[in-house]
Amino acid sequence: MVLWNLRMLCVATLLSVAACGDNDAPSDQGIETLTDTNPDPSIVEVELVAAEGAHEYLPGKPADVWGFRDGARAGSKVTIPGPMLEGKLGDRVIVHFRNELPEETTIHWHGIRLPHRHDGTPASQQPIPPRGTFDYEFPLMDAGLFWFHPHMRGDVQIERGLYAPLRVLADDGIDVAADRVFVLDDVKIASTGKLSELTDNLDLMLGRQGNVIMVNGEAGRVIDATSGSRERWRFVNTANGRYFNLELPGYKFLVVGWDGGLVNTPYETDTLLLTPGERYDVIVELAGSPGDKLALRTVHYDRGHNIPDPGPIDLLTIDLGAAGRAPAAMPATFGTVGPVVFDTATLRRRFILREDDTIPAAPVFTINDEAFPNITPVQASMGTEVWEVQNESEMDHPFHLHGMSFQVLDDAGVPIEPLGWKDTFNVTRETTRRFVVKIDSPGRWMYHCHILEHAERGMMGELEVAP
Ligand code: C2O
Ligand code: CU
Repeated sequence: MVLWNLRMLCVATLLSVAACGDNDAPSDQGIETLTDTNPDPSIVEVELVAAEGAHEYLPGKPADVWGFRDGARAGSKVTIPGPMLEGKLGDRVIVHFRNELPEETTIHWHGIRLPHRHDGTPASQQPIPPRGTFDYEFPLMDAGLFWFHPHMRGDVQIERGLYAPLRVLADDGIDVAADRVFVLDDVKIASTGKLSELTDNLDLMLGRQGNVIMVNGEAGRVIDATSGSRERWRFVNTANGRYFNLELPGYKFLVVGWDGGLVNTPYETDTLLLTPGERYDVIVELAGSPGDKLALRTVHYDRGHNIPDPGPIDLLTIDLGAAGRAPAAMPATFGTVGPVVFDTATLRRRFILREDDTIPAAPVFTINDEAFPNITPVQASMGTEVWEVQNESEMDHPFHLHGMSFQVLDDAGVPIEPLGWKDTFNVTRETTRRFVVKIDSPGRWMYHCHILEHAERGMMGELEVAP
């Protein structure tokens, strides 16, 4: 497969970032926000529509896409990514959803802890038919970056453009010049500019790898920032199968949060791996000089099956302008996550991940030798469990659990430091990872590999939690 030269793909659309320099001013270039129609400041009420539309992945060559649009704004068009749902910690969210697609769907709120009937999967509700509607309602119990997407034919519907970020703000005392959301994705585009109809064996095995690699729906995006400023970047990987291994040469990321919110102790890293479905919340100190151009890029990560190294791929350019204001000191304490308490009497469950590629055009991915939808739901009660996810395959699988979060244990069986909440975690090939899971919500929840081609070809299960 030929990876197109990104520089040829990028039109130099030098949009400037609005509102940079204001404390905590969200500046999410390329992302709209859903209109809140409810005057009550503690309720976010939106109208979300899934519909057909167009998006230019290649300049001047629009593709037919499926996407989300803001149903509360007359004449709104679908955008890629979809408009962000945004609220504050403790708000109540009401989403009036309308399906204008030609096929049935559901909307899942990835990472959000919510009542089971609003989880948006075929395990929790009837599929929403074309022209059908559904009202989702849930409280925002955790601050951080989440996202939403369909949970039917995910490999097809999400690839066509149905995904959007969900940001839950909280006053956590981190002073930044900009709080940005970066939605990382790739898409496989034919030379006509349309979405490629071809799914080859490699796509099935690795998850579909796109040839247009985007931040917030656009390849080669350029953003403006002030030199000397501190910014907060929240990343989500919405790709079907691509792993992003981020670096900003010459700079470090200070990781302050994971999927489910702040970690208890921030830590610095040069590279940041995001597997499909994962989120990271980082601080960058843009200590460069005016005129500097910084390149955010993704570098190779070996996830098995001898995936070739395409070399570094530029994702985004940060143009440093005149010096901004100096940021206030970072807070003295972060988050309030404590270790989940468990002992040798805690129930342990094992999930064995396997792949069978004897027929390369029809690989099967299983959990405990069952391939979804032919599965027996796992029966559980409320409480704490230790899950052992044993990956017996030759590639990594990002394991995702709905409706609940977990802490990852080290080989000695204690939660890894810093402490933080994950709902999606990459279980590397031929290893076993242990998670301590807080099962605190009854209902039928899904768990699966977030490589969408794997999930849709068997690597998905259900957890039935008794009230
Ligand atoms: Cu991102 Cu089962 O979902
Ligand atoms: Cu997988």
